[in-house]
Amino acid sequence: MTPPLSTERLLIRDWSLDDTEAAYAIYGSPEVAHWLSTGAVDDVSAMRSVLEAWVEAQPNLVPPAGRWAVVRREDGEVIGGLSLRLLPPFEEDFELNWQLRPDTWGSGYATEASQALIRWAFSQGLEELFAVARPDNERAIATARRIGMEWVGETDKYYGRRLQVFRCRPSDL
Ligand SMILES: CC(C)(COP(=O)(O)OP(=O)(O)OC[C@H]1O[C@@H](n2cnc3c(N)ncnc32)[C@H](O)[C@@H]1OP(=O)(O)O)[C@@H](O)C(=O)NCCC(=O)NCCS
Repeated sequence: MTPPLSTERLLIRDWSLDDTEAAYAIYGSPEVAHWLSTGAVDDVSAMRSVLEAWVEAQPNLVPPAGRWAVVRREDGEVIGGLSLRLLPPFEEDFELNWQLRPDTWGSGYATEASQALIRWAFSQGLEELFAVARPDNERAIATARRIGMEWVGETDKYYGRRLQVFRCRPSDL
């Protein structure tokens, strides 16, 4: 099965170009962009170009790789994004990445969405999944631990910067 996935409060589904404004409220916000290696998306037009690339790439990605929007079921708002991809530069380890619109932080949405996506990824035969975070990204680190990921160390082998590494295996769920 491929997402959409449904949880108690959320829906995880493919991105659509109709999500441009909502995505910009996430990826254009300084609070989120501060933690992204790509920096902030400059404006709505740039966000649309990014989404076009994501939408075009999605059908060609080999599961469990992908990028998805996180929708709050209560009001239908797109409040975040999740992605699963091979970590550069070696492309051996799968990374879970998550971003939420800042006004929705503190509600457990990243934890809830990630747990559903991880279960799905393991159902695709994945044997382990990683998350990486800068040492001062306290919220991301807390979310990784809340999900049940185990801290495995610090490395600079990904993205050329020092990062904390967390790992999850099916037996951790
Ligand atoms: C990382 C990020 C997604 C975490 O968001 P978050 O809302 O803190 O994450 P969680 O879903 O784990 O929510 C946990 C918080 O919700 C609270 N919460 C409320 N209801 C909850 C529930 N049902 N389940 C779990 N937590 C719940 C927790 O107590 C916790 O509150 P606290 O932060 O005040 O201690 C968000 O900060 C973000 O988008 N950051 C920028 C991008 C980024 O850094 N991404 C990660 C790169 S590795």
